[in-house]
Amino acid sequence: MVVEKNAPLQPWNTFGIAARAHTLVRVRSAADVHAVLADAALAPQPKFVLGGGSNIVLTGDVKPVVLKMEIKGRRLVEETSKAWIVEAGAGEVWHDCVAWTLEQGFPGLENLALIPGTVGASPVQNIGAYGVELQDRFDSLDAIDLVTGQPFTLDAAQCGFGYRDSVFKHSPSDALGPQGLPRGMGLGGRAVITHVRFRLPKPWKPVLGYLDLERRRVEAGVEQPSAQQIFDWVCEIRRAKLPDPAVLGNAGSFFKNPTVSPEQCSDIIARDPKIVHYPMPDGSIKLAAGWLIDACGWKGKTIGKAGVYEKQALVLVNRGCGADSVTGGEVMTLAKAIQTSVYERFGIRLEPEPVVV
Ligand code: EPU
Repeated sequence: MVVEKNAPLQPWNTFGIAARAHTLVRVRSAADVHAVLADAALAPQPKFVLGGGSNIVLTGDVKPVVLKMEIKGRRLVEETSKAWIVEAGAGEVWHDCVAWTLEQGFPGLENLALIPGTVGASPVQNIGAYGVELQDRFDSLDAIDLVTGQPFTLDAAQCGFGYRDSVFKHSPSDALGPQGLPRGMGLGGRAVITHVRFRLPKPWKPVLGYLDLERRRVEAGVEQPSAQQIFDWVCEIRRAKLPDPAVLGNAGSFFKNPTVSPEQCSDIIARDPKIVHYPMPDGSIKLAAGWLIDACGWKGKTIGKAGVYEKQALVLVNRGCGADSVTGGEVMTLAKAIQTSVYERFGIRLEPEPVVV
């Protein structure tokens, strides 16, 4: 177990916010987690689990002990006539893991290429892109209870996946658990994920419904694309639309796409006929938050050192750099100003996607 004091967190969050961890532990195995829990000084302190730092806004120095997940390893656990089951350590870089599965001949994660972050964070917010969500490819995960030290395994149902949601985003005291599961279902702050297993179904079928992807397929004149082609197209689309955190700090989509009732949607369409909306299987309508923010004139705007990305209004970016980077406070001030203007114009409350620490 490697323990660092007063550790800089700027390299470990994709927004590039300058903050420090009072104590940071590099967790390279499940045994490291047990060592933390057996350590007289560390055990009683609150813990904060840090993956790739791609979905957090740091509003100050972090007082809880930061467990920086660096558990590595990727392997095929099982192959049946119906699926490949692949396991990866929580500290593996998500995109590298996707690329590796394709190289090994296990397709299925290609639509999720280039999502920043680590494998261990992927179930926490049920990452999704281009018509596929993690829950569609999830088998199970191993975790350790940070209070009791007990290791446990969860299947998909036990993870309570929803849109950018899972048991790991809810604390036990939340009024509602994920997807309306009862109070007490949350594991937020209580568990650390060590390994994730993916179920990649056979025979592989491409998922092409998403407009941007379909457009790319037609342009390429390909009827039956391979998983590798889809991977390449997803990478191209993302690179064209989304800022590379290594170049311009950001945390991906800053707000969730809101859902409204058909009545509420008709009301908005009557005023704004161009609004981008998608009917959902449960009868509700999902609206494109990026479109709502764009319609309020925010694209390319900056407050302090927090900006709205010029090519995708759903992404907030760090206009500062190094020691002069944006602060978490500036990001949240911009986020609140956006929420207010979207509420005033459309009557919709946007919910932030990243975790504010
Ligand atoms: N749009 C605008 N103006 C903008 C941004 C978007 O008019 O400034 C419109 C687009 O033209 C499009 C619609 O809004 O018609 C949706 O935009 P896009 O296809 O870029 O997708 P999104 O809904 O903004 C979601 C996910 C992304 C994911 C993409 C692709 C959420 C919150 N975001 O974005 O996920 O990559 O779909 O599947 O669900 C993330 O979670 O961090 C993330 C990047």
